[in-house]
This record gives sequence, C-alpha cells and structure tokens, in this order.
Amino acid sequence: MKTVVLPGAEGVRLGAELIKKGEIVAFPTETVYGLGADATSESAVAKIFVAKGRPQDNPLIVHLADASEVKDVAYDDGRAKELFEAFAPGPLTLILKKKSVVPDSVTAGRQTVGIRIPAHDDAIALISASRPLAAPSANTSTRPSPTRARDVLEDMDGKIPLIIDGGESGVGIESTILDLTGDVPTILRPGYITETDLAPILGTVRHFGGKITKNPPAPGMKYRHYAPACEMIVSDSAEETLSLYRAMTSEGRDPVVLALGANVARYSGMKVVNMGNNDKEVARNLFSAFRDGEKSGDVIIVEALLETGLGYSVMNRMKKAVSGSKGEDGKR
Ligand code: TXA
Ligand code: MG
Repeated sequence: MKTVVLPGAEGVRLGAELIKKGEIVAFPTETVYGLGADATSESAVAKIFVAKGRPQDNPLIVHLADASEVKDVAYDDGRAKELFEAFAPGPLTLILKKKSVVPDSVTAGRQTVGIRIPAHDDAIALISASRPLAAPSANTSTRPSPTRARDVLEDMDGKIPLIIDGGESGVGIESTILDLTGDVPTILRPGYITETDLAPILGTVRHFGGKITKNPPAPGMKYRHYAPACEMIVSDSAEETLSLYRAMTSEGRDPVVLALGANVARYSGMKVVNMGNNDKEVARNLFSAFRDGEKSGDVIIVEALLETGLGYSVMNRMKKAVSGSKGEDGKR
C-alpha cells in the first residue's frame, strides 16, 4: 500500500472519505499523532491492531469532536460533562461505562470506554466530517509515540493509506487517563493535566500506583512502551551525564545525550539533543528526542526531570522507555 502524507484541509478531506470507507488514517492531535478508524466498525478497528502490531487485549480510546456526543457512546453521571467543560478540547481521557454501539474490539471486551476530545483543528475537522474515531497513538507497538508526521511515516509507511500532517504535537506526551468507573476517580496514566488540576472539580483523586501487575486497570500498562531502538540510560545530574559519557566513549561506544537545556553548555564537543528549558518543553520534545537520538548514536543518556507535576508524567514515560530499552535485559 502506498502511504501519502497530506497537509491540513486536503488531508482531512481525503481522510474523511477513507474513514467512511472503513480505512484507517493517521491524524495529528495536541498530544501525539493518532491512528484512527470508525469506532463503530469492527472491521475498520481490526486494521489498527494489524498496522501497529498491537495486542488484542489493549483497548482503544474513542475520540469525539464535542462533549455533547459523549452520551452517544457512554453513560455519564454528570462528572464527564463537568470535566469536559473545564478541560475539553484537551489532553484528558475519561473512562466511562460504554454503550452497546461501541464494539468489543474497541474496548477489548471491557464494559468501559475511554473518551477524549482532542485539541487540534485537523483532528476535530476529521471527526466532524466522518465518524467518532477509535485511535491509539500512531506508532508501531512498543516504539515511542509519534509527535511529527515523519515519525508516523517511519513506523507506518506502506501500512496505511494516509497521514495527515498537522505539524508537531504541542503537548508531546499522551493524554491523562482518568477512570471514573470506580469509587474514587483514579488517574491510570499521568499526563499534562495533573491531579492538582482535577482535584478542585472532583475532590479526591487517586493515582494508580503504576506497578506493572498482571491485571492493571489500563491494559496497556503491562506492555513494553516507548522504547528507542538502542540502549537508553537515565542520568540524574550533569555530573553523572559527563561521567557516563566518558565511560562509554572509552569503551568504544557512541553515546548521545538527551539533555536538559540548563546543562547543554557543559557538553561542548559531545553529541547532544537539547530537550528544552522546562517541563513543558521537555514533554513536547521527549519522544522526538528518543527517535532522533537512536539515529545519531548507539546508546542514549537521557536526563531526568524532578518528579512533580508535569515532570512526574514525563518521568513515567522515560522510565518505561528505559526499562524496555535494549540494555535492560540485554536482548529485547
Ligand atoms: O493522547 C492520547 O491519549 C493519544 C492520542 C492519539 O489521543 N492516544 C493514546 O492511545 O495514547 P494509546 O492507545 O496509545 O493509549 C491508550 C491507553 C492504553 O494504555 C489503554 O490500555 C488505555 O488507554 N485504555 C483505553 N481504553 C481503556 C479502558 N476502557 N479502560 C482502561 N484503560 C483503557
Ligand atoms: Mg500508545
């Protein structure tokens, strides 16, 4: 299959046609690029799992254009309305009880469904012109999520008919997932919208511990994630980065540093990707830095953020990426 990349309006026009015909299409969102299919079509949704190599038991998020559509696919006790009034469109996914129109293949047989309203004009235009879209991130399973059309092309060339190029994703890490089906609202995946943002509306918000257990509440949590193609190691300080870099170079390896902006000046003469000057910038650049880093060296040294607020969400991705990277078990 030939994969075409088209910008904005042109991409949305062809994308809507393809979606209505049961095809799958990659589209931009403010978090990461998604790979969308008609959420009400079993056969269209099945194509997503094939293109990504995604395990069948990992459910997909349903993307809507407007909060008024939530009632078409899920049951809301009023909290979803309130939360979407505050945060939609935006990087928040709510887990709700599903209605029967949502097929089992989308929810991996669960009675719940993830709902999100993305804050990107191309995404909203595509959904409005076609259907509610079931969409995971548009990467091959286990790879870093794509934040640029070229990242999608790297993974999906020849596997999907169309990538809509809407520029770089501004947020850079995937949406916060909030489960509203239990007693206490629980964050299953941390993201740009934090506990501190949600608590004023909900009162108590719990953080799922993030332990990789056999039956995690978000099935995706048990899988390897975000891993670059080479080994990756986290560094907690500029000093550690320098000593790791020296040690690796003397072993004949070819390290590349994914650096915090504040440290970059100390790394002259070294191979460096600048991830940015604050948590927001690092979130935006993280996955593209993984993909750029793996192409410019054979081992990545990535610098850690403090684990508070958005930094916590970024570190969640970084730790998973490291634990799935080649070094951890020596093989992958
Ligand atoms: O920002 C995002 O959320 C991006 C963009 C494209 O919208 N999407 C995304 O989708 O990150 P994906 O499939 O890569 O990650 C979705 C996560 C998975 O870990 C999945 O297990 C979980 O959401 N999930 C989906 N539906 C669920 C449900 N009904 N109950 C619990 N977890 C669910
Ligand atoms: Mg994903």
